[in-house]
Amino acid sequence: MDGRLKKSAPSINMAVFMDGNYMNMEKTTVSKFAELFGGEAALYKAPGRVNLIGEHTDYNGGFVLPGAIDKAIYLAIRPNGKSVCNVYSLKNDEMESFSPSEETLPRRQWARYLYGVCREMLKRGGRVEGFDAVVAGDVPLGAGLSSSAALCSATAFALNDIFENGFSLFDLALIGQATEHNYIGVKCGIMDQFASLFGRRGNIMRLNCKTLEHRYFPFDPESAGYSLVLLDTRVKHELANSAYNHRRASCENAAAAIRRRHPEVEYLSDADMMWLEEVRSGIPEEDFRRAEYVIGEMQRVLTFCDALEAGDYKLAGEMMYRTHDGLSRLYEVSCAELDYLVEAARNAGVTGSRMMGGGFGGCTVNLVDASLREEFVREASKGFEERFGHAPKVYDVVISDGAGKVPTPQIN
Ligand code: GLA
Repeated sequence: MDGRLKKSAPSINMAVFMDGNYMNMEKTTVSKFAELFGGEAALYKAPGRVNLIGEHTDYNGGFVLPGAIDKAIYLAIRPNGKSVCNVYSLKNDEMESFSPSEETLPRRQWARYLYGVCREMLKRGGRVEGFDAVVAGDVPLGAGLSSSAALCSATAFALNDIFENGFSLFDLALIGQATEHNYIGVKCGIMDQFASLFGRRGNIMRLNCKTLEHRYFPFDPESAGYSLVLLDTRVKHELANSAYNHRRASCENAAAAIRRRHPEVEYLSDADMMWLEEVRSGIPEEDFRRAEYVIGEMQRVLTFCDALEAGDYKLAGEMMYRTHDGLSRLYEVSCAELDYLVEAARNAGVTGSRMMGGGFGGCTVNLVDASLREEFVREASKGFEERFGHAPKVYDVVISDGAGKVPTPQIN
């Protein structure tokens, strides 16, 4: 890729839009583009994700089990040949200007994702020139469904295509991850970007985050009489990002202590409980608990996958409950709202339930017997509202394809 960069500074215009169905989203995106910039644009989309199990394992080199969902970020885009970047958010109704060749960060957080992707692409020898674009999306923000990874993936996919950079999907995932690290300050793993780019309809993916080997598993809970439903607490507690980085640091600390005795340990996922026990007295108690959770979670992912393949949804569901217990007690990334919903699921006889994603708010993911679904959702929502003063949002999950180019819809 080397030697292809260094044209004039790119020029970008962006817009972000929320809610609406697929076709509306596509039309809204391109008609907004026509309104703002005139003429036609190429249209791209990248979805959010769910993760069935394997939480906080990605940056520990472990397994995750995500799938892309039918909610996405859309990007209508066209090169403009200018050097100034004008960025507009439809959701926020804001315009931003920036130049990827300059060090100055855009003022608004949402624009930094776009800027970061441009910068990371340039850094890797890609070509990024000026463009106008509109971003629209129906991935709920702050719900733990990876709207930010979807934004990065849509941007990276689009830039790769229109500027013919030839980056692989893995490269694009790494560009999205580096954007989070370097421009947002979240030291995330690779799961969200991977799921958004590699998703396949009707399949979840088991990704080994150390080797990036992955395997698709057909996932069709409906045919076995189950549904997968998300309950969104609609809260996102402050400090989630710094707490996330803190958890990562604890894990790296525990892994480093184990490595001193067992040099083959690159990530925490390479260790087992026995090795962790050996270093117990040498690391802070908090780091021990974090590591205990992660090592347990590694085994749960494998048990979950075997159970799914054997059609044993009960065992798979039990793994989800155990994961939640670990996330709440040992990893301490849950919150009262999430714990409430998982408890409500247990009490209603739901097969499996747990908080999903980074934590401190967002959704629970529930594997529920289809015959129980309605009553569970009704009762859990009612109890939640009584307790917390607002009802959770409910999303049914459809496992969908990953990022791609979308045929531009007619807009009149
Ligand atoms: C966030 C991060 C991911 C992953 C999850 C927790 O979604 O972006 O990389 O660490 O939290 O599993």
